[in-house]
Amino acid sequence: MNIIKALFQSTIGKKYVMAVTGLLLFGYVILHLLGNLQIYMGPNAINGYGALLHSRPALLWLARVILLAIFLTHVGTAIALTLENWAARPIAYTIGPSPYTTYASRTMFISGVILFCYIVYHVLHLTVGVVQPGIMDFKDQLGRPSIYRMLVAAFSNPWIALSYMVAMGFLYFHLSHGISSFFQSLGLKNRAYSGLILGFALGAALVIFLGFLSIPLTVLTGLVK
Ligand code: HEM
Repeated sequence: MNIIKALFQSTIGKKYVMAVTGLLLFGYVILHLLGNLQIYMGPNAINGYGALLHSRPALLWLARVILLAIFLTHVGTAIALTLENWAARPIAYTIGPSPYTTYASRTMFISGVILFCYIVYHVLHLTVGVVQPGIMDFKDQLGRPSIYRMLVAAFSNPWIALSYMVAMGFLYFHLSHGISSFFQSLGLKNRAYSGLILGFALGAALVIFLGFLSIPLTVLTGLVK
């Protein structure tokens, strides 16, 4: 219990919490991307995947509760660290931002806030079904919910497709800095590896960005219909 208290009380402890919860969320994002990319394998693949996820409701709800707890811990710790940072430096730099930070790192908090809003909107859209209610009722020939038709109908609306594409841009910024901070916070970054870590962070964020971006884009351009 004392270890947990110490973890959340010290700045370094909070950075560890951010790194570990960030890594778990990164893992979820990769699995989610792989699941969604099955749209390119046709309706049967992605609808079958959706049906599999929903086939064990108790397990699904357990995973959702764990994911939500990790997400809220990440967000709550980010807020605490940001407030600490502001309290330590009440007067902003007068000569502009520090030359040792990147644009992505300075915008970490704001990209995080935008992603938070996106995730709330996204869950209301494709899980709860309140943004475009009709699309939740599509079924395929086997009587399974048709995720394929749902996504095609969702992204045929240019405003919805555009909102997802913009959100993926913020995801790119957030991940590109988040992945390299992960190594820094856990003390795994040193001069010899920093170039490699930066390359990995930018590369992984780019692959994830392009993978997610492709879905609304291919629907909007009529390549997936
Ligand atoms: C083009 C991009 C995306 C597409 C097409 C997409 C698709 C979907 C679909 C179809 C669902 C409903 C799953 C179901 O209830 O069976 C879903 C849920 C969800 N998505 Fe996404 N997603 C995208 C991007 C993202 C991103 C970037 C994140 C996180 C950063 C994310 C986080 C979630 C979460 C947390 C849920 C709720 C999971 C649940 O209901 O159990 N999604 N997404």
